[in-house]
Amino acid sequence: MFHLALLYLLAASSSCVHAQQYISAPSYPSPWASGGPGWDEAYAKAKDFVSQLTLVEKVNLTTGTGNQADLCTGNTGSVPRLGFRHLCLQDGPNGVRYTDLNSVFPAGISAAATWSRSLLRRRGLALGEEFRGKGIDVMLGPVVGPLGRDPAGGRNWEGFSPDPYLSGVAVAETVKGTQEAGVVACVKHYILNEQEHFRSGISSNLDDRTMHELYLWPFADAVRAGVGSVMCSYNRINNTFACENTQALNYLLKNELSFQGFVMSDWGAQHSGAISALSGLDMAMPGDGPRNSYGSYWGGALTEMVLNGTIPQWRIDDMALRIMAAFYKVGRDMKRVDINYSSWVNATSGPRYFASKTGNTTVNQHVNVQGEHSSLIREIGAKSIVLLKNVGHSLPLRKPSSIAVIGEDAQDNPRGPNACVDRICNTGTLAMGWGSATAEYPYLIAPATALESQAKGDGTVFSNFKSNWDLPGARAAVGNASVAIVFVNADAGEGYKDLDGNLGDRKNLTLWNGGDSLVEAVASVNPNTIVVIHSVGPVLIDHIKTHPNVTAMLWAGLPGQESGNAITDVLYGRVNPQGKTPFTWGKHAGDWGVATLNATGIAPQQVFSEGSFIDYRHFDLAGIEPSFEFGFGLSYTNFTYSNLTITPTNGTAYQPDTGKSAPAPTFGVVDRNASSALAPKSFPKVPRFIYPWINDVNALNSSGSGTVPAGSQDGSPQNLLPAGGAPGGNPGLYDIVYSIRVLITNTGALPGTEIAQLYVSLGGPDDPKVVLRGFDDVELSPGQSKEVVFAVTRRDISSWDPVTQNWIASPYPKGVYIGTSSRQIMLHDNLSRDILT
Ligand SMILES: *[C@@H]1O[C@H](CO)[C@@H](O)[C@H](O)[C@H]1NC(C)=O
Ligand SMILES: *[C@@H]1O[C@H](CO)[C@@H](O)[C@H](O)[C@H]1NC(C)=O
Ligand SMILES: *[C@@H]1O[C@H](CO)[C@@H](O)[C@H](O)[C@H]1NC(C)=O
Ligand SMILES: *[C@@H]1O[C@H](CO)[C@@H](O)[C@H](O)[C@H]1NC(C)=O
Ligand SMILES: *[C@@H]1O[C@H](CO)[C@@H](O)[C@H](O)[C@H]1NC(C)=O
Ligand SMILES: *[C@@H]1O[C@H](CO)[C@@H](O)[C@H](O)[C@H]1NC(C)=O
Ligand SMILES: *[C@@H]1O[C@H](CO)[C@@H](O)[C@H](O)[C@H]1NC(C)=O
Ligand SMILES: *[C@@H]1O[C@H](CO)[C@@H](O)[C@H](O)[C@H]1NC(C)=O
Ligand SMILES: *[C@@H]1O[C@H](CO)[C@@H](O)[C@H](O)[C@H]1NC(C)=O
Ligand SMILES: *[C@@H]1O[C@H](CO)[C@@H](O)[C@H](O)[C@H]1NC(C)=O
Ligand SMILES: *[C@@H]1O[C@H](CO)[C@@H](O)[C@H](O)[C@H]1NC(C)=O
Ligand SMILES: *[C@@H]1O[C@H](CO)[C@@H](O)[C@H](O)[C@H]1NC(C)=O
Repeated sequence: MFHLALLYLLAASSSCVHAQQYISAPSYPSPWASGGPGWDEAYAKAKDFVSQLTLVEKVNLTTGTGNQADLCTGNTGSVPRLGFRHLCLQDGPNGVRYTDLNSVFPAGISAAATWSRSLLRRRGLALGEEFRGKGIDVMLGPVVGPLGRDPAGGRNWEGFSPDPYLSGVAVAETVKGTQEAGVVACVKHYILNEQEHFRSGISSNLDDRTMHELYLWPFADAVRAGVGSVMCSYNRINNTFACENTQALNYLLKNELSFQGFVMSDWGAQHSGAISALSGLDMAMPGDGPRNSYGSYWGGALTEMVLNGTIPQWRIDDMALRIMAAFYKVGRDMKRVDINYSSWVNATSGPRYFASKTGNTTVNQHVNVQGEHSSLIREIGAKSIVLLKNVGHSLPLRKPSSIAVIGEDAQDNPRGPNACVDRICNTGTLAMGWGSATAEYPYLIAPATALESQAKGDGTVFSNFKSNWDLPGARAAVGNASVAIVFVNADAGEGYKDLDGNLGDRKNLTLWNGGDSLVEAVASVNPNTIVVIHSVGPVLIDHIKTHPNVTAMLWAGLPGQESGNAITDVLYGRVNPQGKTPFTWGKHAGDWGVATLNATGIAPQQVFSEGSFIDYRHFDLAGIEPSFEFGFGLSYTNFTYSNLTITPTNGTAYQPDTGKSAPAPTFGVVDRNASSALAPKSFPKVPRFIYPWINDVNALNSSGSGTVPAGSQDGSPQNLLPAGGAPGGNPGLYDIVYSIRVLITNTGALPGTEIAQLYVSLGGPDDPKVVLRGFDDVELSPGQSKEVVFAVTRRDISSWDPVTQNWIASPYPKGVYIGTSSRQIMLHDNLSRDILT
C-alpha cells in the first residue's frame, strides 16, 4: 500500500530530502471485531442482524449514497427487505448542523475550560438528545484531532485542549453523554490532522512514543468510553493517507486499542477501494469517489471485489458487524425516530434527494430539539470563562454608577447571527469559529444586550460604543464611565475557506479587527478598563496584562448562544469564575516552538520533531515565561491546599496481553453467483445515488491485477499485542496504583469552585517537567474544606516503550505536584517506588 506514497514522494523528492525516513510499516490483516467489555450484547445483536444480510445489503451499510444525495450530512444505504432505514450521520461537535430549532453549545475548547466532568457529561448528553430528536444515528463529534499542537491551528477550538489528559477526560465524558442519549458518537479526526493548510496532502511524521504519549492518548480514552465510530482524517501519516494507514487503523486502533466500532472516512478522505478496505476502513463517506462506472471506490465496486476474491468475506462481514454493533450498543434499535429535517433544504417541502432534486415531499418538520438546554449552555458558558486578571477587586461589579461597553465583539451581527454561511465572517460577537463544526443559532445573546439589561435593573448608566475603528470616538465614549468593558476577539476555522487571509489556521496570534489599538485607546483614558476576549485559542496579550489601567481580563472562549448572559453572570458575580485555561498563553508567536507548515508539493512533510513537547511541556522545557500558564484561572475567592497523602493501592503486576485472536468469523453466506448482485430489473433508482449492485456480471470476468498486500486477506488467528486486550488498551493500564488525597479550603469570603490539579513528573531525561494527571472541581462555601481524591492509574505513571511495544513505569523517581495551575504548585511529594516494577 505504501508504494503509492513513494511514487508521490519521488515526484516531490527535490523538496523533501528526509521524507524517506517516515514510512508507515504495513500491518495486516485488519483486525476483526470480537466484542469485549461493553460490547458483547451489541455484538450478539449485530451478529444476528448481519447474518441475515446478502452481500449487497452488507455493502449498502458501508457506502454513502453520495454527497447531498439524501437528508443528512452523510447517508448510507438501507436494507428495505428487513425494514432497516439508512444510517443518518450529521455534523458536528457543537450542535446539530444544517437545521433549525437546535441549540448552539459552547465549543469544545470552552467546555474543556470548565474542567468539570459533570458539565462535560451533561453537554454530551444534551447534544445527543438534540441529534436523537432529529432522527440522527451518528453525531460527527467530538473532536480530539487536532489535539492543538499548533496554537494557530484552525480547528483547535472544535476540540478540547492540547493536553492529552484533559482532552481524554473531556472526550470520554462527551462520548458517554452522547451515547447515553442513544446516538452513536464519532470521535475525529484520526489522526495528526493538526493544521488546515494542505490538510489533504500533508504528511504528519511522528515517532511511535509521541504517538502514544500525546496524540493517541485521548483516542484511547474515547475507545475505552465505548465510542461507536472513529473518523479517519485527510492527512497522511508517515506518508500514507490516514484512511488507508494500516499502522494507524489496523495496528493501533483496532488491535492495540481493541476498537470494536467502525471507522468512517472524513468527507473525501478515502483514496482507494481495495486498499482502504484491507487497511481497516469500514464506511466510505460521503460515498463519492473516482470517475469509475460506480462513481465510488466502494458501492458496486466493493461488491465486485468481494465476488472476485479481492476482499475476503470476513472483511465485508466485519465492516457490517462493526457498524451494526455501534448501532445496537447505544440502543438505536429502541430510540430511533424518523429523520425529520433536510440538511440541504430550508423550506418545509422540497426534494428529499437533493443531489438529484427528486423526491419532493415534506422534508422539514421543524422539530424543536432544544429542550431545557439553554440553561445548561449558559451555565457552561459562565463556568468556562477564565478570569485572567483582577486587580483591586474590580470584579465582580456591584451596581457601578455607569458602564461603557465597547467593541464589535459585544454586538449583534446587524444581519443576524447566521448571516454568514458556516460563520465565515467575524462580524459582531464571536461565539463559534467557522467551518463544518458550526450550527445555526436559534438566537445569540450579544454581550451588549445582556449588559444593558443588567444595567437597567441596577440603575446603572449604560452606553454602548460599537466601532473598533473610531478610536477618538471610543476614547470620548469611555472617558467618564466608572467601568469600561472592551470586547475583542480572534477567529479561526476550517481550511476550505479563507477569511481575511486566514486559511482556517490563523495567520497570526494577535487580536482581529484592530482589537489591540481599541484596548489601548480605551485604557489610555479609563483607569478601570475590563477586557473580555472571545477567541479560538491563545492570543498575544501581554501588553494588556501589564497595562496599569486594565484592571481585569477574562477569556470567554467560544460560549455559544448564551454568550452575553454567561459573561454577565461572571462580571456581576452570580457565577464565581472557575474556568482554567486549557492551553498556554505565550508572549510571542515563536514561544510555542512550532509553526504552521506553509509549503508546496504533493505531500509536504510536517515532521513533529518537538515530540511530546507541545504547549506547556514546551514552555517548561525551553524555560519560557508565558503570559498565563496552562491551568491558570482566578476566582473571586481564595483557596488553600493542605494534608497531602499518597497511598499506593494496587501492587499487582502488569500483565502484557498474550495469545492469539480467534479466526476471522463470517456471518451468513455470500452468494457467489454474480447475477444475485445485480439490481432487480425494474428497480426505481434515484438518479445519482450510489448503490451496492454491480453493473454487469461480465465485469467479474475481466482479470484485474488481483495483487493485494501480503497478509491482507489472512483470516487465521492473529497475535494480540502486549498493550492491548480490551477497548482502550490493556486493562491493567487503568488499575489505580496510587490514591492521592488533598484537603482544599475556601479561605475567602464567597462561595466558589476550585479546580484542583495534579501533575506528575515521570522523571526521565526525555520526559516533560510535569504532565497533568488529575483534576477535580471542588465546590466550597466560605470556610468550608473538602478532601479531593485523585486516582492515579498505571497508565498515568508509565511511558511508552517502542521496543517492547508496551507501557512501562520507568525506574526514574517520580514526583507529585498539586496546585491551582501548572506553575502554581501548592504541595509536592514523591511517589514511593514499590509499585513501579
Ligand atoms: C512513523 O515513523 C516513525 C519513524 O520511523 C515510527 O517511529 C512510527 O511508528 C511511524 N508511525 C506510523 C503510524 O507509521
Ligand atoms: C441500498 O440502499 C438504497 C438506498 O437506501 C436502497 O434504495 C436499496 O434498496 C438498498 N439495496 C439493497 C440491496 O437493499
Ligand atoms: C421527528 O422527531 C420527533 C421528535 O423526536 C418525533 O416525535 C417525530 O416522530 C419525528 N418525526 C417523524 C416523522 O418521525
Ligand atoms: C418540487 O416542488 C417544487 C416546489 O416546492 C416545485 O417547484 C418543483 O417543480 C417540484 N418538482 C417536482 C419534480 O415535482
Ligand atoms: C438555508 O439557511 C441557511 C442558514 O440561514 C443559509 O445559510 C442557506 O443559504 C439557506 N439555504 C438555502 C438553500 O436557502
Ligand atoms: C503561505 O504561502 C502563500 C504563498 O507563498 C502566501 O500567500 C501565504 O500568505 C502564506 N500563508 C501563511 C499563513 O504564511
Ligand atoms: C492578524 O490577523 C487578523 C485577522 O486576519 C487581522 O485582523 C490582524 O490585523 C492581523 N494582525 C496583524 C498584526 O497584522
Ligand atoms: C490611565 O488612565 C489615566 C486616566 O485616568 C491616564 O491619565 C493614564 O495616562 C492612563 N495610563 C496609561 C498607561 O495609559
Ligand atoms: C486572597 O488572598 C490574598 C492574599 O493571600 C489577598 O490579597 C486577597 O485579597 C484574597 N482574595 C480574596 C478574594 O479573598
Ligand atoms: C490536616 O492536617 C492537620 C495537621 O496535620 C490535622 O490536624 C488535620 O486533622 C488534618 N485534617 C484532615 C481533614 O485530615
Ligand atoms: C476485482 O474487482 C475489482 C473491482 O472491480 C477490480 O478492481 C479488480 O481488478 C478485480 N480483481 C480481479 C482479480 O479480477
Ligand atoms: C485496584 O484497581 C481497580 C481497577 O482500577 C480498582 O477498581 C480497585 O479499587 C483498586 N484497588 C484498590 C485497593 O485501590
